[in-house]
Parts: sequence; structure tokens; C-alpha cells
Amino acid sequence: MAEGLKVLGAALPADVKLETTEFDLGARRYHRTGETLPDSVLAELKAHDAILLGAIGDPSVPSGVLERGLLLKLRFAFDHHINLRPGRLFPGVRSPLAGDPKIDFVVVREGTEGPYVGNGGTLRTGTEHEVATEVSLNTAYGIERVVRDAYRRAQARPRKKLTLVHKNNVLVHAGHLWTRIFEQVGREFPEVTTDYLHVDAATIFFVTQPERFDVIVTDNLFGDILTDLAAAVTGGIGLAASGNINPSGAFPSMFEPVHGSAPDIAGQGKADPTATVLSVAMLLDHLGYHAEAARIEDAVAADLTGRTGTRTTTQVGDALAARVSA
Ligand code: IPM
Ligand code: MN
Repeated sequence: MAEGLKVLGAALPADVKLETTEFDLGARRYHRTGETLPDSVLAELKAHDAILLGAIGDPSVPSGVLERGLLLKLRFAFDHHINLRPGRLFPGVRSPLAGDPKIDFVVVREGTEGPYVGNGGTLRTGTEHEVATEVSLNTAYGIERVVRDAYRRAQARPRKKLTLVHKNNVLVHAGHLWTRIFEQVGREFPEVTTDYLHVDAATIFFVTQPERFDVIVTDNLFGDILTDLAAAVTGGIGLAASGNINPSGAFPSMFEPVHGSAPDIAGQGKADPTATVLSVAMLLDHLGYHAEAARIEDAVAADLTGRTGTRTTTQVGDALAARVSA
């Protein structure tokens, strides 16, 4: 986070005054106060133009507490229905894939529905007949807005290609709704080429033919899984940035690295800040600072070309900030 803010400061024009508020959330606060995200903090956050979220989580907190009580609460409360996750292999970065694949796609992951809504429960708890359900919520409204957003993004890109990823041969109820809306909205975008992949097949193509993807639209859980794979094939989770977008601007959008908090290396100064720095670029782009966002991306691209040896988190941040202000 420190390196992200450093680069943000370096990228902004001198006449733009940046005001930041730091919110101390996450595992430490949870242990101190028992709170994850109090409503008062949510109200304060709402008054900001954008949120930069540092990775959260620690093994000392029971699984799900911070995920649901903090991260997902933010995404749901601020209606971050567009979860934007670029998958780009920068020049000079080694992909674990053979050859030198040209990977440049963006996953538009639905952010507020699907199996993430917490709709379900258990019966006969603790017995050998225990039952657990996790019901995926899919609304026409929710699907249509993310699908239309993905078409717009595809339309604006040179290749103009959009792939719907789902599992409509098995998850027929949600799958058919997604497919029908995908086709309907597509009529408004005659220039966009479309195709459909089942999620299992999509994982194959992410590895064997990642060049084929331009824009991908998919549901919340498929998008979660696919974007970790996307990170892996584009040089690792340390480079993967994301934006949780509310396009209406009614609530602040939130930018965060795709990765977690890496508690095993916390405090050692060896985490790669690049994913956070690229998330800062997405934040600036979202707020209309396109040139500044591009400067950060160029700085990262240049830095990645020459990466050899080991640098500390701070050294990487310093190098990126220096490039941005040069
Ligand atoms: C992510 C994370 C979250 C998700 C978890 C921590 C709730 O894996 O941002 O990809 O599943 O969305
Ligand atoms: Mn994830």
C-alpha cells in the first residue's frame, strides 16, 4: 500500500491536490475491536472518490470473517457490479506457458451476485445427514448490466471480441438466462464478435491458447477462479490488478490487487507491490486521469523488462515512482 500511494503521488500533476484518508481495517482491527467494517466507516468511505484496498486476511482470523465481513461487504454495499481484471503478459515477463504467447485480455467478472450472495444454509447440522446449500442468485437486471458493460469494452478494443463463460449445459437455469441476455444485448453491438465457452473448456484455452481471448464476461465465481489462472499465466499473482467498479458513480469504486495478504512473508519487505501499483493506474483511469494511468503502466512495463536480481518492496516502489516522475 505504501508503494502504491508513493506511485500515485508521483503520477499526479502538481496542481492536483490529493487528499487521502487511511482506514485501519483487517485482521488487526478485528482482533482489537471485534469489528470488520462498521457502518460508520462505510459512511465515511462513501464520501470519497475512490478506494484503494490493501490485501486483507490473516490465518488468525477464522476463514470467511474478513472475506464476507469486509471485502464482500464493501463490494455489495457500494454495488461494485463490474469486477474488472485485466490479464496481460507484459514484455519481458516470463509466462509459465510454452512459447511466447501474446496475452492481452480483460475479464469482466460480475461482482454482486452469483454464489457470493450468501444465499443458502444447513440442515440437520452435525448429523450424518447434514445438508448444505449455496444458492446462486442471478437476476436479469444484474446480468444485463454486466453483459452490456462487457460489450461496450469489447466494442472499444481493436479486436472487438467478447466471450461468455458459463456452464449452461449443467447450470441450466442461470446458464440459459446468461446466454439469452448475452444474445439479446449482442444485437446492439453488431461489430462485436462473440463466442461462448463452458468454464471447464475456458480453463484449457487459458493455458493452450490464451491469445484467443479479448474480453470475457462471466459470473462472480467463475470469474474468481479464471482470474487466478489468468494471473498465473501472465507472470503471477504479484502482477494482477483489479477494479471493483460502480459505473454510475453513485458509490466510490474500489481498486485492489487480486492477491491476498501473503501472511507468510508479511513485514519482510519482499512482497511485489506491482499489483497494487497497477491497481492505482486503474483507479486513476477510472477517475479520468488517463495520461497519468498510462504513465504508471509504462513505468511498470519498463521496470518489468529489466527485472533481474532481488529488490525489496520499497526498492520496486521507488524505482516505479522515479520512472513515473521522470
Ligand atoms: C478475490 C478474492 C475474494 C473473492 C475473496 C477473498 C472473497 O479471492 O478478490 O478474488 O473470492 O472474490
Ligand atoms: Mn480470488
